[in-house]
Amino acid sequence: MVKAIRFHETGGPEVLKLEDVEVAEPAPGQARVRHSFIAVNFIDIYFRTGRYPLALPNGLGSDAVGVVEAVGPGVTDIRPGDRVGYLLGPQGAYAQARVMPADVLIPLPEGISDRTAATLMMKGMTAQYLFRQVYPLKGGETILYHAAAGGVGLIACQWARALGVTMIGTVSSDEKAALARANGCAHTIVTSRENIAQRVREITEGRGVPVVYDSVGKDTLMDSLDSLQPRGTLVSNGTSSGSVVVDSQLLAAKGSLWMTRPAMVHYIHPRAHMLEMARELFDHVLAGRIVSEPQQSFALADAAQAHHALESRKTTGSTVLIP
Ligand SMILES: NC(=O)c1ccc[n+]([C@@H]2O[C@H](COP(=O)([O-])OP(=O)(O)OC[C@H]3O[C@@H](n4cnc5c(N)ncnc54)[C@H](OP(=O)(O)O)[C@@H]3O)[C@@H](O)[C@H]2O)c1
Repeated sequence: MVKAIRFHETGGPEVLKLEDVEVAEPAPGQARVRHSFIAVNFIDIYFRTGRYPLALPNGLGSDAVGVVEAVGPGVTDIRPGDRVGYLLGPQGAYAQARVMPADVLIPLPEGISDRTAATLMMKGMTAQYLFRQVYPLKGGETILYHAAAGGVGLIACQWARALGVTMIGTVSSDEKAALARANGCAHTIVTSRENIAQRVREITEGRGVPVVYDSVGKDTLMDSLDSLQPRGTLVSNGTSSGSVVVDSQLLAAKGSLWMTRPAMVHYIHPRAHMLEMARELFDHVLAGRIVSEPQQSFALADAAQAHHALESRKTTGSTVLIP
């Protein structure tokens, strides 16, 4: 038996319950992983609240690191004792240990601690696919990036700097602005007192930006569209403040704009490609171009507190659970 967070109904953080669950022996193609750190992501809130439906009761979480304890028949490239992380697979990462499909496990290199890796799996890989695949940055661009002091955000700040990209980042407070700037964000806009699109026009001397990465959604949509150059691209990669609905005519009126709503799952397969994405991310970390540590840690049993902090915008950077 291991301790795991499960939920029997959708709702607020209080629906998350610590329970004892059985962990099976790994079947063919599977591996059993004992977690050292479990990452909390905003998508976990979408599942908990029912915005992304799951059959209940269910576990939660898809992002953790740890050590392989056992592998099932047919698993050859992952061995007991390997340090691994993952960001794909069935919900249920909020647990001391679990059985996983072995083909989603990413071996962790020496030189990257479990603690750091727990901030990289979902969040670092998201920065990779946004900046290197969805709208590939060449260097030299000025971009608008929302929630720059968040979990994905702090890695994105550093990745943009490494690429020679000037990032304009939005944040909700002066403390978050200072943190984003310390991580490489060139300009910050404090949304509680500044107009986003107006500030972007000032910073870019009226030109606007070629791309906006918008994970906030409902609250920032119009500012994002108003910050773009003609034929610019809105990458709508999250909905922390609520969903967006866009009339295509609006994209024409605002400058023949492009809009995409990317999901990681369409940018990470096959396995060889996932490992190549991870290699690029790990290279930045090993070279010191990206430095990433959890900013908040909670006991596994306190997952509800972690959710409350994340959804009430009290966190910066990455949040982890300690099993
Ligand atoms: N499409 C994909 O494949 C993919 C993959 C991973 C993550 N994502 C998305 O990327 C975003 C970032 O994920 P994360 O886990 O790193 O979270 P996060 O950025 O650490 O937390 C969300 C941040 O959004 C900002 N925010 C603005 N309005 C908000 C509101 N009404 N409620 C809550 N937060 C609000 C807050 O920053 P301020 O206080 O500074 O405004 C908050 O800290 C999420 O939207 C997530 O769903 C998408």
